[in-house]
Amino acid sequence: MTRGLFVTLEGGDGAGKTTQAQLLAEWLSDRGASVVRTREPGGTEVGALIRDIVLHHRGEVAPRAEALLYAADRAHHIATLVRPALERGDVVIQDRYLDSSVAYQGAGRVLGRDEVRELSLWAAEGLLPDLTVLLDLDPDLARSRLDADDKPFDRLEAEKEVFHAAVRAEFLALATAEPDRFLVMDATRPAAEIAGAVRDRVAGLLEARSGDVGAAD
Ligand code: TMP
Repeated sequence: MTRGLFVTLEGGDGAGKTTQAQLLAEWLSDRGASVVRTREPGGTEVGALIRDIVLHHRGEVAPRAEALLYAADRAHHIATLVRPALERGDVVIQDRYLDSSVAYQGAGRVLGRDEVRELSLWAAEGLLPDLTVLLDLDPDLARSRLDADDKPFDRLEAEKEVFHAAVRAEFLALATAEPDRFLVMDATRPAAEIAGAVRDRVAGLLEARSGDVGAAD
């Protein structure tokens, strides 16, 4: 059986990941592909509990504890939801994965990025995405998009500009280090244009795999 395809979306808060995940999922579903949309943190019941702690706990969470909480969410999510879907041959479209840990906990929180990556890889038993779409956006612009949403900020969104600038720089460094896995898109481009570029990459990967987007095996 052909293994499915694992696509992750990364970027700062407010970069448009959810919109792009939705557009890609619709396009794939229209072509008969079996699609699973999910996210970290919070893609499972256990994950929803962890998400509540990491995003909404009032007061400090020690940096190593925060990194372990994201890794715990990831371990459970990958083992119980993502791997089974990939083994069925589904396309998994996921909001955020280990690159978010490296960028936020590694660069943003000054834990070593290599140790954060190793922790995540241990948690996920080495699973890496086939494609990671990085929606790159200036943190100041992202902030004005979030302000326009008129929702309360979570713990990470409320961080200072310097934190978000470090996160952005780390995402870009990760993309430079793994150019085959990453597709970097300027998030200020129209959503439809970004979606077109993402579709082209996904179509290429699926073709290389089976010769047909809708093929089950
Ligand atoms: P989101 O689901 O709205 O994108 O929010 C998740 C927040 O959690 C976001 O600010 C990024 C952060 N995050 C980490 O700090 N580390 C991680 O490993 C993941 C997956 C998310």
